[in-house]
Amino acid sequence: MPTLKIDVRTSPQGSPDLITFFVKGSALPAGVPPEEFDGAPGNILLLRDKTHRTLLVGLGEKDKIEPDTLRRAAGTAVKHLLKLGSKEVALDLVPFPDHVGAAVEGAILASYKFDGFGKDPAKNTRGVLTRLQILVNEHELTNARVQARDAEIAATVTNTIRGIGNLPGNMLTPAILAEKAQELAKERTLTVKVWTERHLARDGFGGILAVGRGSVHPPRLIVLEYNGGPKKTAPIALVGKAVTFDTGGISIKPGAQMDEMKWDKMGGLAVLGILLAAADLKLPVNLVGLIPSAENMPGPDAYRPGDIITTLDGKTIEVLNTDAEGRIILADAIAHARLAYKPSAIVEYSTLTGAVVMALGFRRAGLFTSEEKLRDVFVAAGKATGELVWPLPVDEEYKEAILSEVATVKNIGSREGSACASASFVKLWAEETPFVHLDIAGTAWTTKPPAHLEGGATGFGVRLTLAALRAGLAG
Ligand code: BES
Ligand code: ZN
Ligand code: ZN
Repeated sequence: MPTLKIDVRTSPQGSPDLITFFVKGSALPAGVPPEEFDGAPGNILLLRDKTHRTLLVGLGEKDKIEPDTLRRAAGTAVKHLLKLGSKEVALDLVPFPDHVGAAVEGAILASYKFDGFGKDPAKNTRGVLTRLQILVNEHELTNARVQARDAEIAATVTNTIRGIGNLPGNMLTPAILAEKAQELAKERTLTVKVWTERHLARDGFGGILAVGRGSVHPPRLIVLEYNGGPKKTAPIALVGKAVTFDTGGISIKPGAQMDEMKWDKMGGLAVLGILLAAADLKLPVNLVGLIPSAENMPGPDAYRPGDIITTLDGKTIEVLNTDAEGRIILADAIAHARLAYKPSAIVEYSTLTGAVVMALGFRRAGLFTSEEKLRDVFVAAGKATGELVWPLPVDEEYKEAILSEVATVKNIGSREGSACASASFVKLWAEETPFVHLDIAGTAWTTKPPAHLEGGATGFGVRLTLAALRAGLAG
């Protein structure tokens, strides 16, 4: 991938393709027939002269414009121009100096596409974005440069983890994920520790080991630390499910769309992305990221329905369905976060349940927390970043569904309310530590991409959490 050069200037240099944003009700540029362009959000019109292209993009009505309106409009325009083969693009943001960050994010996120392997490069006519110019007035240059830089870091890291996320199960095993985390951390001020199977067994990570034992690719626990805050401040722990492929195990899944379970690792990749971006942005916070990773396969030594597993802190799990594996590896990782780091809060990301997709669809992730302040911070961060979340309950009442006769809990309850019961399951291992569970099963990837993105892994959770950290998640 050639690197992308971003510059913030007052007028275009060279002859980039120009993107201009249009607010409904303002005067159309000369020669544009009103029946061809109505200025609704995402509505586009391509104008050409001899030397370059101008793409007009609608934003809708003025008083409804939010950061995400610009983010999506810029993404839609860039995706469109890249399909036409563009390489250099200029965004006219003179009228929107406060939305420079959102527009830069939209442009960079739209420029990522998973190329696959062994495809004929000659047939790929899609342009690769090499230069992005941001146009603003002279007195906005400083403000715009700060926004552009932060947005560039957040979106570039997001694309990095989308690239890893889109690797299929045969190319990304838990061990390979750990190696990639180590490589990426080495370039930054991050420390990494990786538990191999032997160390997991030595230290009592019974949940991660149980889920991983059906696969010939052994499990890992990846722990990253970033210390940008005051030495004595307790860190925030971020925990992410990274099941590199989820067949369901002995309780095997049906065949249809099972390939999508290569994206069952996106919670873990969100955590990796947040740590990478925090280091690049030099955020003044202390973070620890914990990524339990396993492949859930049927196999001669696979864990089975009926098994009773002892997790790191001694709590036990009666396995009634080996397809409810995410919560089992998360149990160990959350317990380790609590016991080893005494964090001020634990935030956990997982493609945990099909039920949350039934409840909320693909646009919003389920947000489960009993902490009002954390809930408000994440809801606001969702609105600001376009990574929307919706509060769902994790009351005591849901615990009843997972009580077991033979263990602390069982890993499935009844179908009714199962996204909430699953949330109350993982919360158990956080004990008294303030806890947030984000069920990203509907938002972590897309097979029906919107106009401003390509399909595949979305990187959901990275920009959301960076915004939450800036808004005081850390205290
Ligand atoms: N990874 C899946 C959840 C999932 C399903 C994510 C569909 C995205 C799309 C998870 O491990 C799982 O299989 N959950 C089961 C739990 C059930 C057995 C209680 C589910 O949701 O069906
Ligand atoms: Zn599963
Ligand atoms: Zn899963």
